[in-house]
Amino acid sequence: MARLKVGILISGRGSNMQALIEACRKPDFPAEIALVISNEPAAAGLARAAEAGIATRVVNHRDFNKDRPAFERALTAALEAAGVAFVCNAGFMRILTDTFVARWRDRLINIHPSLLPAFPGLDTHKRALAAGVRLHGCTVHFVRVAVDEGPIIVQAAVPVLAGDDEATLAARVLAAEHRCYPLALKLAAEKRLRVENERCVIDGAPAQEAVLINPPPLLG
Ligand code: GRF
Repeated sequence: MARLKVGILISGRGSNMQALIEACRKPDFPAEIALVISNEPAAAGLARAAEAGIATRVVNHRDFNKDRPAFERALTAALEAAGVAFVCNAGFMRILTDTFVARWRDRLINIHPSLLPAFPGLDTHKRALAAGVRLHGCTVHFVRVAVDEGPIIVQAAVPVLAGDDEATLAARVLAAEHRCYPLALKLAAEKRLRVENERCVIDGAPAQEAVLINPPPLLG
C-alpha cells in the first residue's frame, strides 16, 4: 500500500518530529515524512530533520506582515507542492485560522502536553503541579479552530511524583509523547480513525483495562 505522505509543522527543538521521523524509518510503517516546515528560522528541529535527510522549509510568519491567511496559504502551498496528504503539528506555536483548519480537516493533528481537556494552553506542567493532580500526561488530537480542542486520538497518563518539578515532570510526559505521536500517525495512516459527532472512533483497537493508580495501592 502507498505510504501516507506527511508534513510536519514545527517551531522549536523538534523532539516529537524526531520521534515521527524515526517511526517512519521502519520499512513497514505506513507513513513517510515528505516535508518539515518551521515558522522559526532558528528552530533546532530544522537541523535535526536535515540530518535525517528530510526536506525542510522555513515559512517565517514575520514575512507576512501579520497577514495570517497569507502565511497559511504559503504553508498549504509548500505542503501541497511536496505532495503532503496529512499534517502533524509538533510544537508548532502559531494559532491557525478556520480556513487552514478547514483545508486540512481531519488530516491535521497536534500533540499537547496534558490530558486534555485539562490544561489547554501553555505552561501545562507548572499548572498540573500547582493543581496537585496525581496523574498528568499528553494528548494527540485532531485540530479544530479552538486551540487544544478537537477529537482525541491517543492519550498517555503518567504519575506526578513527590519531588517533581517542572523539568522532571516535563521529561516524563515528553517520553510518553514520543510514544503516542507515532502511534496516532500509524492509526491515521492505516485509515483506522473516524470522526463521529466530534469524537474519534478507532477501528480494531484492543481493549486496554490496565489501571494506573497513583500512589500505588500498597497500604494495608
Ligand atoms: C511538546 O511538549 C508538545 O507536546 C508541545 O510542544 C512541545 C514540543 O516539543 N506542543 P518538541 O519540539 O517536539 O521537542
